[in-house]
Amino acid sequence: MSTIGFIGSGKIGGTLARLAVDAGHDVVLSNSRGPDTLRGLAAQLGPQARAATPGEAARAGDVVVVTTPLKAYRDVPVAPLHGTVVIDTINYYPQRDGHFPELDAGRTTTGELLQAHLPESFVVKAFSNIFFKHLATLGRPAGAADRSAIAIAGDDPTAKATAAALIDTLGYDVHDAGALADSRRFGPGTPAHHAYLDPDGMFAAPGRPADAARIAALLDSN
Ligand SMILES: NC(=O)c1ccc[n+]([C@@H]2O[C@H](COP(=O)([O-])OP(=O)(O)OC[C@H]3O[C@@H](n4cnc5c(N)ncnc54)[C@H](OP(=O)(O)O)[C@@H]3O)[C@@H](O)[C@H]2O)c1
Repeated sequence: MSTIGFIGSGKIGGTLARLAVDAGHDVVLSNSRGPDTLRGLAAQLGPQARAATPGEAARAGDVVVVTTPLKAYRDVPVAPLHGTVVIDTINYYPQRDGHFPELDAGRTTTGELLQAHLPESFVVKAFSNIFFKHLATLGRPAGAADRSAIAIAGDDPTAKATAAALIDTLGYDVHDAGALADSRRFGPGTPAHHAYLDPDGMFAAPGRPADAARIAALLDSN
């Protein structure tokens, strides 16, 4: 089992932390307001969880999840993440995040921005196209007929394998969508971004399972 560090412990971070603890991992949570504001969540998660600063979470994690609003990506600590696989869940919503001209122009992607901020780390985009309530409910044991796959993208094959192995423990297969630049194929506004939405219930839980073949078909339909 591993230690998973979290930079950001909100809807997606908190949900992933729950899945990680249930899978037997230790988790180190952090946010912008300080560890005291995360003691309640850590207590809910139990003895495998603790609250810390972003720097401590970055240092502690065998794998570190960055799951903040985009505007906070430059605050992610750099040096403690040297050599670390970083899972990036960030999406870009200009109305929330403010405008990033290079994203508006399609010159780069959020994952590439984080990778440029963390040049000595190995960024893998994942969990960016699943609503947190669906993430909480769609996990299944390996081999289950209705197991879903998470779209991932990254520039380092070894890091993607590490991320895939972790994601497997959390209850999901993966579909490798390619390099970080290819993460735009499952970004907001694409068919694959809504892979798990129930066509009737939309964002209502539990969502609709989507296996790797369905994710691949949605990526190709764009
Ligand atoms: N919600 C979803 O279903 C969903 C699905 C897929 C992807 N995403 C993406 O994943 C990211 C997180 O989404 P979310 O819904 O989990 O957001 P959220 O509930 O608002 O949580 C954001 C977390 O980031 C922390 N944070 C903000 N600024 C920080 C900083 N400078 N340093 C460290 N931590 C900081 C916040 O801490 P404080 O509260 O202390 O500021 C909070 O714990 C976003 O980019 C979002 O677009 C979300």
